[in-house]
Amino acid sequence: VPEIGCLSIIVLGASGDLAKKKTFPALFHLYCQGFLPPNEVHIFGYARTKISDDELRNRIRGYLVSERSASPSKDVSKFLQLIKYVSGSYDAAEGFQTLDMEISKHETSKNSLEGSSRRLFYLALPPSVYPSVCRMIRRYCMNKSNLGGWTRIVVEKPFGRDLGSAEELSSQIGELFDEPQIYRIDHYLGKELVQNLLVLRFANRFFLPLWNRDNIDNVQIVFREDFGTEGRGGYFDEYGIIRDIIQNHLLQVLCLVAMEKPVSLKPEHIRDEKVKVLQSVLPIKDEEVVLGQYEGYRDDPTVPDHSNTPTFATVILRIHNERWEGVPFILKAGKALNSRKAEIRVQFKDVPGDIFKCKKQGRNEFVIRLQPSEAMYMKLMVKQPGLEMSTVQSELDLSYRQRYQGVTIPEAYERLILDTIRGDQQHFVRRDELKAAWEIFTPLLHRIDNGEMNPIPYQAGSRGPAEADELLEKAGYVQTHGY
Ligand code: BG6
Repeated sequence: VPEIGCLSIIVLGASGDLAKKKTFPALFHLYCQGFLPPNEVHIFGYARTKISDDELRNRIRGYLVSERSASPSKDVSKFLQLIKYVSGSYDAAEGFQTLDMEISKHETSKNSLEGSSRRLFYLALPPSVYPSVCRMIRRYCMNKSNLGGWTRIVVEKPFGRDLGSAEELSSQIGELFDEPQIYRIDHYLGKELVQNLLVLRFANRFFLPLWNRDNIDNVQIVFREDFGTEGRGGYFDEYGIIRDIIQNHLLQVLCLVAMEKPVSLKPEHIRDEKVKVLQSVLPIKDEEVVLGQYEGYRDDPTVPDHSNTPTFATVILRIHNERWEGVPFILKAGKALNSRKAEIRVQFKDVPGDIFKCKKQGRNEFVIRLQPSEAMYMKLMVKQPGLEMSTVQSELDLSYRQRYQGVTIPEAYERLILDTIRGDQQHFVRRDELKAAWEIFTPLLHRIDNGEMNPIPYQAGSRGPAEADELLEKAGYVQTHGY
């Protein structure tokens, strides 16, 4: 049942990069599709900078229209009119009291007190200010309507730097808000093909008997970007590729690939299964890690001259359970590589008793390409068409652009913000999940931070360090044609 009453969306950190590039455009697309009706919704931007409503609107305007939205400029102007700006600090009462007053004004004018009031706080901020901001929201800005409604907060990664700091952050926030009020965003969970994993795995008889150690040789989950840290060197250097991509985005994907069938589609049932996967991961071995740093990374003025932060990493995770014992899950991520791509590659074992002697031509592989150009395809052996009885590797290909022409695939942030409004936590990271994810990577991260493991230099625009390909081969991955 759709909730009635007014909805206030408050973007904290409104003048920052994330808000401009992701949050506001996502809100705009939701608005254009009718999910944010102007008679119910108001959007507030909050940040330290002292600017006017119009200045904020002008800063955002240029980011709203993308190739994905052909919305006319009148939609842009109408949307921008929904946004009001409040300036204030992140740890003092005054700004938050003003913010509360503005929200309440809007609620009284829109609601005529006929419905509940909903307040969604989106923290597009660095985690160092989460505790103070949450305290301020709790103290001054909670929904006060006695007709129901809610207050929810959305937080972005990085949730801490390691197990200790993440747990501390979680307890600080946990003292102020209950778990159902906290939405920890990992935007990979909003991607179309990541969301498709559950359907693929559990709605297809094809996969059910094959998805295990008896048939699957190895699984690769890969993220590549063909650009460096450009302008984000300061942030990136503090975190590195493992905290930026692997510990969250790739690990979340791994959970969906590896988990058992949940009891139902209820968010808690799905998240219970994900936690079990994380808790079954064995400690990472040093010899199953390759770190890299692209040449030129330290030329960025915001990066220290002697930084040993990895911009590339390949890490093998091993899941100690009945389904996956012995199957390496190879997580690989890198900046400044030769292409931009994110994909899952499930490689099957060789056919026993091969009568075609076609082993060298490659193995069966099921590839799910998350981006760009969403697709999934199966590499399989077929008879080479013609008079000879020879084999060739070919593909069964489901390319979304061709198959679903005219269907717009929503942006991850758009979908996730809509979920927060609807109160669906399925695609958000639960506190125990976060803890288990940090438990896996913290020992390795500490070794890197202490300078006990150093990245190997690689050329920008390359595949990354050759050692990573060697590790892949050692793990059993067989290179197939065209990869
Ligand atoms: C972010 C990382 O979480 O994800 C960035 O901080 C990275 O470093 C980005 O570039 C990649 O997201 P996407 O959706 O473009 O794959």
